[in-house]
This record gives sequence, C-alpha cells and structure tokens, in this order.
Amino acid sequence: MKIVFTAKPAAKADAFVVAAFDGRSLSPGARALDRAMDGALARAVAAGRFTGARNQVLDLPAPAGLDVERVIVLGLGDRARLDALAIEKAGGALAAHLDRVGAREAAIDIGALGAGRKLSAADQAAHFAHGARLRSYRFDKYRTRMKDDEKPTLAGLTVTVPETRAAQAAFSRLDRVADGVFLTRDLVSEPANVIYPETLAARAKELSALGVDVEVMGEARLRKLGMGALLAVGQGSSRESHLVVMRWNGAPKGSKAAPVAFVGKGVTFDTGGISIKPAGGMEDMKWDMGGAGVVIGLMKALAGRNAKIDAVGVIGLVENMPSSTAQRPGDVVTSMSGQTIEVINTDAEGRLVLADALWYCQTTFKPRAMVDLATLTGAIIISLGSYQAGLFSNDERLARQLKAAGEAVGEAVWPLPLGERYDKDINSDIADMKNVGKNREAGSITAAQFLKRFVGDTPWAHLDIAGVTWSKAATATVPKGGTGFGVRLLDRFVADVYEKRASGKKPGGK
Ligand code: BES
Ligand code: MN
Ligand code: ZN
Repeated sequence: MKIVFTAKPAAKADAFVVAAFDGRSLSPGARALDRAMDGALARAVAAGRFTGARNQVLDLPAPAGLDVERVIVLGLGDRARLDALAIEKAGGALAAHLDRVGAREAAIDIGALGAGRKLSAADQAAHFAHGARLRSYRFDKYRTRMKDDEKPTLAGLTVTVPETRAAQAAFSRLDRVADGVFLTRDLVSEPANVIYPETLAARAKELSALGVDVEVMGEARLRKLGMGALLAVGQGSSRESHLVVMRWNGAPKGSKAAPVAFVGKGVTFDTGGISIKPAGGMEDMKWDMGGAGVVIGLMKALAGRNAKIDAVGVIGLVENMPSSTAQRPGDVVTSMSGQTIEVINTDAEGRLVLADALWYCQTTFKPRAMVDLATLTGAIIISLGSYQAGLFSNDERLARQLKAAGEAVGEAVWPLPLGERYDKDINSDIADMKNVGKNREAGSITAAQFLKRFVGDTPWAHLDIAGVTWSKAATATVPKGGTGFGVRLLDRFVADVYEKRASGKKPGGK
C-alpha cells in the first residue's frame, strides 16, 4: 500500500473518509461533507445502529452530488481518549473494511477529524497510517489460484495533514518497526519444509544488509561450546541445528553500557520427538520458532530505525523429530553451563534449547538485561488465553518496564510468579534437574523456573508467547495468522527504557 502525506486535501480517491465520535457526533470534515450531500450523511448516521463507537464503519456508496465512489464514516469513540493506539486501531479497521468492499484509493483529512489534542496532527496521521499498514499484511505467496474477489484491493492511502514533514518522519520510524513485524509474520507463516534451522539462519543473515552483524554457528561449533541440551533436541532431525547471534551496535560512540539481549526459541517444527504429539493440530507446530522470529524481526526494526543502543539477539534453531537418532525419555544431557538434565519428556524441548542459548548469551555478552521469548507451554494458553503473553522475571523493575511497553503498543503481558516451591518440582533423582514438573501442575511456571537456572544474576525476563504468536481471528491491526507479537513491544521497551535514558530523558515505567 502506498501511503502519502499531503498538505492539500486529496483531489481524487474512490473512498473519502470522515469520522464520528460517540453519540453520533460528526467530525468537522463529516459535517462539511454532509452539507455537500444535502444532509444525506447525517440521515444515514441517524438511521441505523452506527453510533460513532470505536472502529465502527458506516459505508455510503455512490453518494449523490460528490465525485467519489464512497464516503466512509469511521467511528472513533470517545474523543478524549483517542490516543496513538486508538488511532492505529481506527486505521486498521478502515483498511480491513476497504479491502473487504473493494476500494482502491482512500483519502482522509486528519485536520478535519477534530480528534482532540492528545496527539499532534502529525502523530495522529502517522499512527493512523501505521495501523492501516499493520492490518494490510498478507501471506499469499502459496496461493496461486486466488480469485479476484479474494485479493486485497487497497493500494493507496492519502493522508492530509498540515505538517507533512513531521508526519512523514514519525511514520517512517513506525514503518521500519512494521517492516520488522512483517518479517516476523512471514517467518512464522512459512511451513517447516521451507523454514528449518539452516534456512531460518539464512534469513537472519540477510539482516547484515542493514548493518547487523550476524554470526551463524553449526553443530560442530555448538558441540565445542558444550551445548549438549540444545543439540540433544536436534539430534533426531536430519536438519543441522544452529545458533545465530545478531548484533546491532547503535549506541553513541563512547557509550560504555552493556548491550540489551534478546533470546528466542527457534524450534522450526515440534513433533514432540519420541514423546510424540497427537496428530490433531500438529501443523501449528511450524510456528514453534515464533520466539526466534520475533528476535529476528526486532533486530530488523532496531537496525531499520537506527536505534541508539547496542542490542544482541541470540536464537537457538532446531527441529524436534522422532527417529532412531532422537533422544529418548530418560536420557541425561549436559548443558553448556555444566548442569545435567534428565529428559523426562522430549516434548518439553524448548527449555532445553533456551538453557544453552541463555547461558551462552549471558556469559558471552554480560548484558544489562536479557529477555527471552518462547512458544514454551500449552499451559500458558490455559492460563491467559490468546489475549496476552505470560511474563516471568527475576527483576521487578524489568517486569514493570515490559508491562508498560506492552500496554503502550497493545501487546499485553501479564506477570506470573516464580518461587522456590516451583523450583523444587524440577529436581531430579539422578541429575541436577529434570525437564518437566509435577504432573501438569503450574506448567508455565515450572518451565520458567527451569530457564531461571541458566540466567545467573542477569536481570532477566521470560515471555511465554505460545498463546499470542498465532491468531485464529483478526483484530484491528493484526490479521489472522502470524501476529508478530513482541516486536512492537520490545521496540517500545528499548526506546522508552534505554534510548531515553541515554539521551537524558526520563525512562518509561515506574
Ligand atoms: N511448543 C510446545 C508448546 C505449545 C503448545 C506452543 C501449544 C503452542 C501451542 C512445547 O514445546 C511443548 O510441547 N510443551 C509441552 C510441555 C510439557 C511436555 C511439559 C506442553 O505445553 O504440553
Ligand atoms: Mn514441545
Ligand atoms: Zn515446542
């Protein structure tokens, strides 16, 4: 979709967009159009269930007296509460509607929205366009016989705003973040015969074009490093396991701050291994590399917008398969940390991968903070559904900062506890620990407790994103399918906590 910011109202568009607020209150632009339409717009608003509530759309095709194909009245809800997130969602709801009805070009005049002063007009324009783009994502590359009426139509959005340069600048930054989100969505949408450890590493390697330093390690190297836990997961697969390290060095010269680190679970397919999963729904396990996908997308976003920090991304890439070389339940493996693990269930593989990736990251880079993302447990879906991710941390401030960033971008995370009692549940009779807890009790917590044994004293947080990585239904800015959940959150976290601190402004969170 081509997005243009102009100071003059668009001369032509097939859809002209105006707004209404709660209580059928028309925006200034809507009132002007209503006069040109001899009152037909106000009558249409009065005639039905459209009240101007958030993200409602009233579509008036072929309006008499106007040279446009349709006038859209977009509900914006409570004028006083129209923040950046609400405006993004409005942009997303509009884009979805326009694709549904087959419009090609849309125009909106931000000044004529009368959308309050919470945000500058330039920021309103930028966030509106950002929301429209986020919702317009498609993954159609394998659909070779799509009918015309299945294809998206919306090709252009013209946003009229007085400060075009400020709007363009704000949008560009957001748009680089959207590029990262789209990369993550692409990667999790790809099937496992296309994305496996080697090809996912190759996709990460492409970030070097943006100035990211990317190192790809194969099995020989991982064996030398002693990554017995990660390697055990991949040993049943004919695909070679990999660990990828991505480094973005954007901190101002002379900065002595340690990097911020992000670690991702990259199980490119999770059959469960010898503890094999049931057939129903197993296809979902192509997106068990979602954590790694977020780390790659995040690095792309940070590099794309030239973030002023040093960031490290570490992803552990394996395929979990049953075969005659696969690890068995009861096997004992030695992790890079030296700690031994009794593998009770080969389907609890993500924590084995992360054990070595976290240890490597933490000992190699001594990061100021380390955040891991993983589609780690089915239990987190039972706890929180698909609305928010689970948050575990050994550092309350870090947890608060992540929660605040999530709220700001509409990617909510909810804190869950860690504690000694849960830690005890993963003690093993014959090794330092086992990879599952007591029956299925507190499954997400015992998994987090396992990870905690590999992070040392580093301020660390774990996001269990099993419930939010893939969605079965669209929301305003996220089409169904791969969500990219985490990229916007962590981009915001980096910006609010580390970039503002570096520039002397007050950091986000409390
Ligand atoms: N990748 C799965 C978790 C998962 C399940 C993600 C459903 C998304 C949707 C993970 O590797 C797994 O299999 N976890 C097991 C752990 C159990 C064996 C202790 C689980 O959650 O059942
Ligand atoms: Mn598993
Ligand atoms: Zn898994």
